[in-house]
Amino acid sequence: MVRVTEPAKRLEAIKPSGIRRFFSLAAERPSCISLSVGEPDFCTPAHALEGGWRAVRDGKTHYAATNGVAELREALVQKACRDYGLNYDPNSEVLVTVGGTQAISIALMGLVNEGDEVLIPDPGFVAYEPCVLLAGGVPVHVPLREDNDFRPSIADVTSLITDKSRVMILNYPNNPTGSMLSYDEVAQLSKVAVERDLTVISDEVYEKIRYDGAKHYCLATFPGMQERTLVIGSFSKTYAMTGLRIGYVYGSKELISPLWLVHQYTVACVDTFSQYVALSALRGPQECVEEMLSEFDRRRHLVHKRLNEITAFKCQLPKGAFYAFPNIKSSGLSSEELAQVLLKEANVLTVPGSSFGACGEGYLRMSYAASYEDLEEAMNRIEKAMRNLA
Ligand SMILES: Cc1ncc(COP(=O)(O)O)c(C=O)c1O
Repeated sequence: MVRVTEPAKRLEAIKPSGIRRFFSLAAERPSCISLSVGEPDFCTPAHALEGGWRAVRDGKTHYAATNGVAELREALVQKACRDYGLNYDPNSEVLVTVGGTQAISIALMGLVNEGDEVLIPDPGFVAYEPCVLLAGGVPVHVPLREDNDFRPSIADVTSLITDKSRVMILNYPNNPTGSMLSYDEVAQLSKVAVERDLTVISDEVYEKIRYDGAKHYCLATFPGMQERTLVIGSFSKTYAMTGLRIGYVYGSKELISPLWLVHQYTVACVDTFSQYVALSALRGPQECVEEMLSEFDRRRHLVHKRLNEITAFKCQLPKGAFYAFPNIKSSGLSSEELAQVLLKEANVLTVPGSSFGACGEGYLRMSYAASYEDLEEAMNRIEKAMRNLA
């Protein structure tokens, strides 16, 4: 290869996301039902969009402040207080980001030194490992086991912490497993973080997507945690605005400052239009969130019931987010093989559990953020394909 076209060495360990790869395969197949991406199929609430249009009509089409539009930061600070009783300074303790994804990336870039170990959940969101590697860190996989409802065991976490451990990433409600943490579990994990002096990146982008009255416990509310936790949020899932790319991160001034620096020199600021949409989403009526949630709940029950009627699948009822994560081990196929079979024979796109880490092997992720009708049809097709396979 000629030197001018050679990628940087730091990319050697980075592989493209398994989700995107399967997504491209589906794009080539008409009438394929995609249960692959974590993207609500609802429209972005009209009142939120109107806030964006209004801002544009008023000429707000220029750079915003690096850390975000002041009114949005103020509204985010009020949200943290309303939802969790947490107080943050709008000028120095909140940063508006390009989705939760950029918040994760700049958090790792801003805090991790070469060789620092970062505990990441396995299976876990596909961006964690590459972002740790790009920051020069060493990902350390914390297994999330089905027999522990896909929650990290304290014994595993403590046994994986070394003198080099710097950051622990947690993500509840969880992608890809749909699991959640109880109060006691968050308390125990927080205690470990304090005792072992870890910074925690708590990815809470699914905070509002939970069922049966399950409560979400924000990590930063536990003793000794606010000063060591970066809480990451996003408008993508709660308000069905994945394409507007807007998220945020809360943390102490000491934790936010390094992120701010990386943010400044990578994106300068977040899209001004999107920030005003987000502001109107936060300030406006919240019934839209409740409506989406009750529809997700209906779909959750459908998918859970239908998957458990298939002999080769065993599926826990997800408690949060919008993913089913059935155990497919008795099919005798790897998750990659089964996802290929379902794509070819059922024309349904799922994601192999192995895309989320080695502990995801033996599972498939199916997003139920598709329409109820599509989900019914997808379940019919999968059932038939699995019957033929048997
Ligand atoms: C666990 C988790 N964190 C963060 C994100 C990032 O979302 P966004 O960048 O759209 O805010 C996602 C998206 O799927 C996710 O599943």
